[in-house]
Amino acid sequence: MNWRKLRIFLLTALILCLIPITRYHQIDLPLLRFLRGSRHVDPLSLHLSGEFVENNLGTEQNADGSVTVRMIALQYMFVPHCILVPAGVPVHLRITSADAVHSLTFNGTGDAVKVLPGTISEAQLQFPRAGEYTAVCREFCGAGHYAMRSELKVVSREQFPALRPEERGNCVAQ
Ligand code: CUA
Repeated sequence: MNWRKLRIFLLTALILCLIPITRYHQIDLPLLRFLRGSRHVDPLSLHLSGEFVENNLGTEQNADGSVTVRMIALQYMFVPHCILVPAGVPVHLRITSADAVHSLTFNGTGDAVKVLPGTISEAQLQFPRAGEYTAVCREFCGAGHYAMRSELKVVSREQFPALRPEERGNCVAQ
């Protein structure tokens, strides 16, 4: 065996050893997440840990005055059922699906956000005036598709309260 072949053999052996080592040290999943990007999310553990746990859903106010809305689409509802946002400020929507492919739209606006399991869909929205919108699923997602809807209430900036974590997912505070 010449040196060149030996080098290639050792390098291949080293790489093959590294694969089980990443598993042993439990860095394979974080590594995979890093390579896939931060938009990846596990649809089976949304309620257990991470960004989409229950008291993180709904509207959260950011330091710059904009708001972030987190939602989950699942057969056959949007969670939360009702979300409250202020008028005239940027709304950063972050939504993912627990099962099938859905599409979140707001009646009376042209906004449509495709929602897929395993990934976080993002959209920048803004609602100029106070009012009520119905959020409707526009992607056929199964037997209950036609009943899949929730509500969006837009209130004026002055009326919009700073929501506590337990109030973020409902329209009670206003
Ligand atoms: Cu969800 Cu149609």
